[in-house]
Amino acid sequence: MIRANENYQKLQASYLFSDIAQRVALFQKNNPEAQIIRLGIGDVTKALPPAVIAAFHEGVDEMAKDTTFKGYGPEQGYAFLREKIAAHDYQARGADISSDEIFVSDGAKCDTGNFQELFAGDIKIAIPDPVYPVYLDTNVMAGRTGVFKEGRYQNIVYMDCVKENNFMPQIPDEPVDLIYLCFPNNPTGTCATRAELAAWVDYAQENKALILFDAAYEAFIRDGDLPRSIYEIDGAARVAVEFRSFSKTAGFTGTRCGFTVVPKDCTVFSGKGEPISLHGLWHRRQSTKFNGVSYPVQKAAEAVYSPEGQKQITELVSLYLENADIICRTVEDLGFGYAGGKNSPYIWVDGQGRDSWEFFDLLLNRASVVCTPGGGFGRCGKPYIRISAFNSRQNVVQAMERIKEAL
Ligand code: MLT
Repeated sequence: MIRANENYQKLQASYLFSDIAQRVALFQKNNPEAQIIRLGIGDVTKALPPAVIAAFHEGVDEMAKDTTFKGYGPEQGYAFLREKIAAHDYQARGADISSDEIFVSDGAKCDTGNFQELFAGDIKIAIPDPVYPVYLDTNVMAGRTGVFKEGRYQNIVYMDCVKENNFMPQIPDEPVDLIYLCFPNNPTGTCATRAELAAWVDYAQENKALILFDAAYEAFIRDGDLPRSIYEIDGAARVAVEFRSFSKTAGFTGTRCGFTVVPKDCTVFSGKGEPISLHGLWHRRQSTKFNGVSYPVQKAAEAVYSPEGQKQITELVSLYLENADIICRTVEDLGFGYAGGKNSPYIWVDGQGRDSWEFFDLLLNRASVVCTPGGGFGRCGKPYIRISAFNSRQNVVQAMERIKEAL
């Protein structure tokens, strides 16, 4: 008899963004005339920048000739891309990361979801609440949690991110082995200072713990005092893995490319306490289960680092940041409290006593605007909604006008 992985039975009925998509589709079916504006899932709307598209085309043309055709690529990704990433994203910012510590992938969602495979089943995991659901759900699937009760899985150490602590995860009172952090944060939009990240790095070093640091939104940091990588903090290369994505930075949500940095100094431990190279484990995992990102897509990603590419992605990110500012001003005018929206594409809006799904329904029904209910990110998110700045200027302005009218 073929038996199911019963851990899947512990999961909530469907993935948050699938659930929202279904509700929106139903609303559209019942209201065919409604012009829905989507400020829910963080999906970009602007086309790929011209420098990226030109390189993408070149890559495709190379695949069309026997003399330049490429079959399977190098396991960790093409050196031309990894070298640009190491030099530009790390060495230029004083972080000692080399190209062979970079693993090119099809995006941060897969890597943040898959990485937990490398760890024992009985480790203690600290996860912020609210949180990007992938970190939690993949650990549920792997059987590291108990059942879901009163809005929480047993055996997880939740780090409440609430107004009182400025939505900043606090170091847990009990010992933990694996810590998930994301800055600029999805969903709250908050950013960590150097001192805040340094406290986590110290904790991990003292406790032989590991930090999984999701930096998918680092391109939105415009404040020069804020760290864009955890490796800007001394000692982080021994205790942290960093995930990055071209999705939000350069419009790759549909094109798929990201990367994970696993420094060679990073260790995990055997049951007997002997150090094991994390880099070796991830290399083993990826070379067994993943066959790389296509050559044209890696060429396209490389173009992000050209002078034109840099200029174009800066403009792209600025457009979304200006949208975020418009959303913040509207929310402020309406008298709602909020976090994020600066150095971040997400605005975390306090629903003034409304439940987040109720607020979601209200905006959908009265304004035809889609947001993300905070409750979908965890129990602490229930009083909030997340508004995303990823849409055209025109749609954001119109959505804000509609929200003002509706409220
Ligand atoms: C989000 O809206 O939280 C993100 O777009 C989801 C993702 O990147 O997978």
